[in-house]
Amino acid sequence: MSNRIYIFDTTLRDGEQVPGCQLNTIEKIEVAKALEKLGVDVIEAGFPVSSPGDFQSVVEISKAVSNPTICALTRSVEKDIDVAAEALKYAKKGRIHTGIGTSDYHIKHKFNSTRDEIIERAVKAVKYARKFVDDVEFYAEDAGRSDNEFLARVIEAVVKAGATVCNIPDTTGYCLPHQYGEKIAYLMNNVPNIDKTILSTHCHNDLGLATANTLAGISNGARQVEVTINGIGERAGNTSLEEVVMAIKCHQDLAFENNIDSKQLNGISKLVSTLMNMPVQANKAIVGKNAFAHSSGIHQDGVLKNRENYEIIDPADVGVDESAIVLTARSGRAALKHRLEVLGFTFSKEKIDEYYEKFLIMADKRRELTNDDLMMLVGEEKNKDKKIKLKFLQVTSISSVKPTAIVHLDINGVTFESTATGNGPVDAAIKAVKKIIPDTEKVTMNEYLIQGVSKGSDDFCKVHMGLEKDSKLIRGFSSSSDIVTASVEAYLDALNKI
Ligand code: KIV
Ligand code: ZN
Repeated sequence: MSNRIYIFDTTLRDGEQVPGCQLNTIEKIEVAKALEKLGVDVIEAGFPVSSPGDFQSVVEISKAVSNPTICALTRSVEKDIDVAAEALKYAKKGRIHTGIGTSDYHIKHKFNSTRDEIIERAVKAVKYARKFVDDVEFYAEDAGRSDNEFLARVIEAVVKAGATVCNIPDTTGYCLPHQYGEKIAYLMNNVPNIDKTILSTHCHNDLGLATANTLAGISNGARQVEVTINGIGERAGNTSLEEVVMAIKCHQDLAFENNIDSKQLNGISKLVSTLMNMPVQANKAIVGKNAFAHSSGIHQDGVLKNRENYEIIDPADVGVDESAIVLTARSGRAALKHRLEVLGFTFSKEKIDEYYEKFLIMADKRRELTNDDLMMLVGEEKNKDKKIKLKFLQVTSISSVKPTAIVHLDINGVTFESTATGNGPVDAAIKAVKKIIPDTEKVTMNEYLIQGVSKGSDDFCKVHMGLEKDSKLIRGFSSSSDIVTASVEAYLDALNKI
């Protein structure tokens, strides 16, 4: 038996059923294209008979996406199947997903029917769907609570009728992993024509066991997993794609293979969360904000010594740049020293001990210390003994007018003021400084590097500057959330050294 696991994504069908998560057709196409890039094998694009909008989305996704199979959901009702077939008209590879409830709850209380009648309806639906497409998936709704012997009879009958894939949903998220695994094993061992179909897992997360059940399913012979990005879906959600993919990747010994490019997981998680207005919980495995964040001193020290001390996944493997060392009152000296180094400051052990005491006082007052806070912590200290200090800076920058800068410098306790214009705000500010310090005519700037520390428009930037005087290069450094301030302070840092 092959170990290839087919990834069937139902974010746009089961995921989209969540109240408040509805997407329009354009948004659905965006998600579908991202899923295609991610490498999923099947995209369940919708339930076409449910609304004209859903029908149209399946049509447009079928046109927009080429590699994955496009799947459309139906009940075991001819009208549903007609509409699904019509919606899949443009799909390069189309699949109809039809089915019916097989648990006694559903048979008695939903269909008021009998087991034999359910088999008849299931077979009829599969045969009817096969008239339109070669690829028909059958779902045995509430298979998780269905009697295994009866379920085996249903699966045997629908495979005979032409079902290429058989979905065994734990619709209510009831099963424990060993029960779900045994169910799949039972079907593998007791359905005579099981080799003519692929068993698929479809687990809901009502007991928080969806991923565990899915893994139990593939360990016992299922070869397709039905999943959603961020685990969104009815009630407590569906199995999350990123969890299954990374569990398989982390446990190479299982030897399961799939086509997913895991580096895209973080990006697609954010896309789906944003479009669906569905925040990802901070401690969500793989894609949560805290999934690679370390906040206790012991863990931070361990991670800084060797990431693998406390991480089983390299963040880069899921598209996260690096682990985050969160600075809180629980952080240790190692984390403080590390963050200061990232900001460009290297201090002796004694100095770090000194800053650490101040750091703890600040951290006790706030939940988390930012780079700004650290700059305040060390900045005052660093500036204390400087001869030239920036007291005030104002830059006016209006499009099509040259920027103007007003600068006040404190030189040995005396304030000097000047104004200058320049090609840009930084140029104007540096020219204003030069007007105050005439000696700067002999100084040339031959290095100027601006780097963002984290990301986003509210980022903190680091400026490295190299000034040359009398053939000697002197370097200055500063950081600030404001590029112009950081540039002027880096310039002054170098001038102070001159
Ligand atoms: O959970 C479920 O049983 C389903 C089926 C419609 C496949 O979503
Ligand atoms: Zn479902």
